[in-house]
Amino acid sequence: MCGIVGYIGRGDVKDELLSGLKELEYRGYDSAGIALMEQNHVTSFKATGKLKNLEQKAKEYAQDGGIGIGHTRWATHGKPTELNAHPHYGTYSYVVHNGIIENYVELKKELEAQGVKFVSQTDTEVIVHLFEKNLEKLGTGDKAFEATIAALEGAYAVLLLSKDVPETVYFARFGSPLMLGRNGKQEIFFASSDAAILGKATEVAYLEENCIGKVENGTIITDFEKGCSDLEYKALRGDKVSAQKGGFRFFMEKEIYEQGDVLSDTLMGRVFENRVHIDELEDMDLEGISAITICACGTSYHAALSSSYLFEHVAKIKTDVVIASEFRYKEPILTPDTLFVVISQSGETADTLEALKMAKNAGLQTLAVCNVDNSSIVRLCDSTILTRAGIEKGVASTKAFATQMAVLWMCALFFARKNGVACDMDAELKALRHLPKVTAEALRHHEKIKRLSKRYLHGHGFFFIGRDLFYPLAMEGALKLKEISYLHAEGYPAGEMKHGPIALADSELFTVALMPKSQLYEKMKSNVEELSARDATILTIAPEILDNIADDFLVIDEHGHVMSEYFEMMVVLQLLSMEVAIRLGNDVDMPRNLAKSVTVE
Ligand code: G6P
Repeated sequence: MCGIVGYIGRGDVKDELLSGLKELEYRGYDSAGIALMEQNHVTSFKATGKLKNLEQKAKEYAQDGGIGIGHTRWATHGKPTELNAHPHYGTYSYVVHNGIIENYVELKKELEAQGVKFVSQTDTEVIVHLFEKNLEKLGTGDKAFEATIAALEGAYAVLLLSKDVPETVYFARFGSPLMLGRNGKQEIFFASSDAAILGKATEVAYLEENCIGKVENGTIITDFEKGCSDLEYKALRGDKVSAQKGGFRFFMEKEIYEQGDVLSDTLMGRVFENRVHIDELEDMDLEGISAITICACGTSYHAALSSSYLFEHVAKIKTDVVIASEFRYKEPILTPDTLFVVISQSGETADTLEALKMAKNAGLQTLAVCNVDNSSIVRLCDSTILTRAGIEKGVASTKAFATQMAVLWMCALFFARKNGVACDMDAELKALRHLPKVTAEALRHHEKIKRLSKRYLHGHGFFFIGRDLFYPLAMEGALKLKEISYLHAEGYPAGEMKHGPIALADSELFTVALMPKSQLYEKMKSNVEELSARDATILTIAPEILDNIADDFLVIDEHGHVMSEYFEMMVVLQLLSMEVAIRLGNDVDMPRNLAKSVTVE
């Protein structure tokens, strides 16, 4: 959600900012903007829509050396207009911001009473006006910035520059991610995610919570009252190439195709001849643990729900799953025999992070299943199992979900062994090892799905139905379709359709039925028949052609293990939603109104 970049150095400032923003564009693409400072002269450009509009606007401008800040926006306060785009400016200062200023209404009123005229509807604009008022009052940029940050409530990351404080950029991190990169070429970079500085910075320091600082004449200075103490630099690994489309039409397509490979990485060093071994769990004291509570949002929530079936079926451990935004306000009863697990691709989702803080405050042991090392969630959790999916750029999550499911399955097997629960461990491990192959082979459905997709564009809605573990997978299939095709879709328990939703059935109602052979197959068949009798248009994903009850068929392998069926169907659902969205002409990687990482409540 929103991306921030900053650059200080002798290079082409505009290019540095734009190339950084390009890497963050998937986090928000309602508008973008940059401000560039050379001594005490500032030039700023803003444009609505995708980054290419900003590139076009700024194409004549060049500046070798200096300071720059940039932003790509996912609108929270105010429409995605140019006036609401960042950087926001006062009379002589410019700010970019990620997060939410919760007390902006009060601050705005106070500033307006002092004669300040606001031009945008954003919460951000108060920051820059407040800074200028403080500068007039307090006389130095440092004092003004400190006082400004002290007045802000909420969660935010900020970069600010001012003509009145030449050669300086101020930074603050309070609840939203911000990092500082450097290399041996006297260049300093800021970014809200390291994707923006890969290939540029060789070292990165992830700023701690609640701290401020400045870069002045190329020197990083943190001796403020709330200064970021001891920046700890780590080598920045990863290359830019891995974050490019590599010949695929969309990142989402590339990421679906990568799943076999990233799953191999996820399993590496964790699956052995007769057991799974997860260092991060071995290191925890799990003796008194008799229950698990999992919190997550979006696709990660569906991984959580799916895994709860595994924890209960395979490891016989009581597992509850709560949507993170609900957890916070339901006054949950938290007891120390519960392991609190959060699942998050980005590690920055505000609702999940807040739920985690509640669990920590209640003294629970906490575990993260996360894709981004050093993210806020990772840093807060007692222990983290990294999913190793690599950078995921498509807003609709695919490979991150696959790797979350693999990790959670391994966790269930870990608890089964630890608690001495009888299960066919050999069969489980064999299926686990086959996962990369099953997932890669599932791509064979792609051509058929491309053809089929043209029949699923214009109905009055979709139901994705399944039972047991395949009910959350059905929810995930529906979410994928909604996110990128903008068609209405619901994931529903197949057995529940007769209690209401079947009233919607007619030939314009599309039903996608998940029918694994190894689980409740006959019951699923009955549920599909009930819909078929009401003339619903039905696509079955099953190990056989069911031409007496359905219209279309995707025939999956009879793997003999429920998780193999789960992963094959997962790929089928991802490809189906993508092909429908492509036929509808949508931008699959950057669907309207969404953002990859949602760092506001
Ligand atoms: C956003 C994204 C979803 C994602 C959800 C949770 O809504 O668009 O794809 O599933 O956030 O994100 P997380 O990073 O916590 O998994």
